[in-house]
Amino acid sequence: MTPKEEIESLRKELEQHNYNYYVLNQPTISDYDFDQMMHKLQDLELFYPQYADPNSPTQRVGSDLNQSFKTVPHKYPMLSLANTYNEDDVRDFYNRVKQGLEGEDFEICCEMKYDGLSISLTYIDGQLVQGVTRGDGVQGDDVTANVRTIKSIPLRLREGSGYPHEFEIRGEILMPWTSFEALNAEREKNEEPLFANPRNAASGTLKSQKSELVASRKLDAYLYYLLGDEIPADGFHYENLQMARDWGFKISQGMKKCKTVDEILEFIDYWDKERKNLPVATDGIVLKVNSLRQQRHLGYTAKSPRWAIAYKFKAERACTRLNEVTYQVGRTGAITPVANMDVVQLAGTQVKRASLHNADIIEELDLHIGDMVYVEKGGEIIPKVVGVDKTQRVPGLQKVQFIKTCPECGATLVRYEGEAAHYCPNDTACPPQIKGRIEHFISRKAMNIDSLGPETVDDFYQRGLINDVADLYKLTVSQIANNNENRRVSATKAVNAIKQSTEVPFERVVFAIGIRFVGETTAKLLARHFKNMDALANASIGELLEVDGVGQVIAESIIRFFRDERNIDILNRLKEAGVQMALSEEAMSGQTDILSGQSIVISGVFAKHSRDEYKNMIEKNGGKNVGSISKKTSFILAGENMGPAKLEKAQSLGVKIISEDEFLEMINNF
Ligand code: IVH
Repeated sequence: MTPKEEIESLRKELEQHNYNYYVLNQPTISDYDFDQMMHKLQDLELFYPQYADPNSPTQRVGSDLNQSFKTVPHKYPMLSLANTYNEDDVRDFYNRVKQGLEGEDFEICCEMKYDGLSISLTYIDGQLVQGVTRGDGVQGDDVTANVRTIKSIPLRLREGSGYPHEFEIRGEILMPWTSFEALNAEREKNEEPLFANPRNAASGTLKSQKSELVASRKLDAYLYYLLGDEIPADGFHYENLQMARDWGFKISQGMKKCKTVDEILEFIDYWDKERKNLPVATDGIVLKVNSLRQQRHLGYTAKSPRWAIAYKFKAERACTRLNEVTYQVGRTGAITPVANMDVVQLAGTQVKRASLHNADIIEELDLHIGDMVYVEKGGEIIPKVVGVDKTQRVPGLQKVQFIKTCPECGATLVRYEGEAAHYCPNDTACPPQIKGRIEHFISRKAMNIDSLGPETVDDFYQRGLINDVADLYKLTVSQIANNNENRRVSATKAVNAIKQSTEVPFERVVFAIGIRFVGETTAKLLARHFKNMDALANASIGELLEVDGVGQVIAESIIRFFRDERNIDILNRLKEAGVQMALSEEAMSGQTDILSGQSIVISGVFAKHSRDEYKNMIEKNGGKNVGSISKKTSFILAGENMGPAKLEKAQSLGVKIISEDEFLEMINNF
């Protein structure tokens, strides 16, 4: 066998195993054998780059290069479906179809409505050539590189399976529940914001600029609509999809052709319950006239086909008694009202607390203690109160009055203009706010004192050992252990970890002190710009606004922070404790303003330094590294193999392209 033949044969074999595993859920070899085969192919491809192919199974790992998506028009617009919510709507649809078809026999194909984001895939000669998001229905983003990393999407179709020369297939990209839960657990650990539901997670992932990240997130795809000039006009939707399964696509097993309304309703009923056992989120049933000829006959309205409709499942809802409204105070002082109710079973879990969001919503619901309330678990994780059953209201119940003072410290609540939430303004003496600030200070991305956690912070606070972040540095082993020998080891560890944190670089200290609206990135920019805490503390609004990414809101918040004597006192004590109050020599050396105010995109592969090193150089010289090319991009630092799409975009926007050597010269680093 020639190397070319061997490469071809390995690719075919690996594709087949991918299909067995990800589409049919029936693997026939072990993961180990699969990996061996994959490694062999990777080696061969490395050795014979002339046989490279973007659709090789080795290409599913993605890359860490930033990409910017091209907007491309859809050959056939991507329409949406009209929604229906009850049995009567379904009957109406059925009767409209019947009437439209003037007495002809017809079948309705019933299938799952997947709750992800829609994608249109184009195949030519059995090869995936493009994957485009729905966008506005007329044009969408070309996300082909990301789509290639989704294992259940075939890159090459199964040979001899009879696929047309060119066609489009549409479907839904989803994040399975298990991947979604694992992802959120990981994000929680890293103190990153959680995704509200798998749809948001899938959408955020697919639109990521790094295909490597997409590959790591384990997306799945179900296809449900075949179209193209070569699809026989007298064919049938259901049968088309069965064929598409043979070509290599993942097609739902839960599809049924129905002849009567009763059959349709039975299908809906069955899946309303059974869908809880599916690996991915669904939010309804789609009904489609099965014959393509009849579909054409029925045609389209301006927005959606007349031959199809979506029946939406009702969000799971329960009715239970409201016993009390309690109020939680967050780290920023925001007040969240919480409904405390009789325990009720909802979507597989026991629920006794639900969010009431804010005072306006409570008012709108006209909520009374003792009311029977409806609780729903929609796409969000936390259940919410969505209504009141007023028919069950008994006389004499008391209307819920939103609190006027903080439940934790008694301060009078305030409401800032334009914000729905109430806040406790007592930020320096309100316990949850104090503890919240300390928790933020010790968190991983701030001072990273990982031997402490929310429980220890609470414990130290309760015992009067700490009242602000500077108190941490005064803690002693005996104070923490409190004469308990068993606690000495962990206490010593905690004291050492706190001491260690005095070495955390200044940039992170600026983030850790918890200036409202100053996140990790802004903190870094501020630290680099002002170089030490005194300069930052004394900066005027005008000087603050000079820093990239700092607008009026952030600038005012910084001024407010440093105007507060209590914060200055904390900073002085932190300084005494040895916490870094200025950029280190190392960070300062080579620090210039040469690239100040410039937004720079890095693209391609470099010879002299790694991408991370270039990123650092940009930041050290006052520039900002950004992901995608836009009109605002100052220049592109380009290595070898800059993608053609990027090149084209840069040229069309007139953005300069600068080589590695030119860049180094620019920052005086030869
Ligand atoms: S068919 C012209 N089938 O629901 C008909 N859509 O509002 C094209 N969806 O944007 C759509 N499951 O993202 C169809 N089995 C299914 C579906 C489905 C989910 C989504 C799709 C579309 C939206 C319709």
